[in-house]
Amino acid sequence: KKNIVILISGRGSNMQSIVNANIPNAHIAAVLSNNPNAAGLAWAAERGIRTASLNHKEFASREEFDHAMMVLIDAYEPDLVVLAGFMRILTPEFCKHYENRCINIHPSLLPSFTGLHTHQRALDEGCRVAGCTIHFVTEVLDNGAIIAQGVVPIVDGDTADDVAARVLAVEHQLFPQAVADFVAGSLKIDGKRVVKQNQADKSAQLL
Ligand code: GAR
Repeated sequence: KKNIVILISGRGSNMQSIVNANIPNAHIAAVLSNNPNAAGLAWAAERGIRTASLNHKEFASREEFDHAMMVLIDAYEPDLVVLAGFMRILTPEFCKHYENRCINIHPSLLPSFTGLHTHQRALDEGCRVAGCTIHFVTEVLDNGAIIAQGVVPIVDGDTADDVAARVLAVEHQLFPQAVADFVAGSLKIDGKRVVKQNQADKSAQLL
């Protein structure tokens, strides 16, 4: 089985969708957080998944925090590190260490709206669609090779919360599929493109 370590900062609904998917040949080795009070940690622990947290506020620098996080993560011998609402910018050292084996979900249609407050910014720009992107992590923020994207409409009168809820439902569909594709060995990185091999019909439909 492939070991998967999931990093969260809060609610952890994407982490839950991955756990609940019972992905073949995937072992959720640990759920880790920078936030000891992350609600998702308790959810995972209740299900017998190993959990731990490192409070980033207790570290003198981003480098020291990321290094400690790497030591913690590596203790679980991960084949894949999944950033599921992990709200920390990662150092180049961290990104390099997990190159091609770390994926992130971002709540926008990249390359538009990197960073924070993505749905409000899409509304402010008058966008008619919003969405989410699952991508490999590189040292450039929200910029690695794209694995999957999901699109939802923006309708008149929407608030950022309305858009977030609509997008989140799609996140919960796409993320377990992306993890399953990685575990199955069907994602090949070709520069900024990800080519899917042995693609199941279901994942083709989701795209
Ligand atoms: C999700 O919408 C995810 O796309 C976003 O945070 C939320 C976490 O929710 N991630 C980012 O903004 C990363 N920069 P969750 O904790 O319920 O999965």
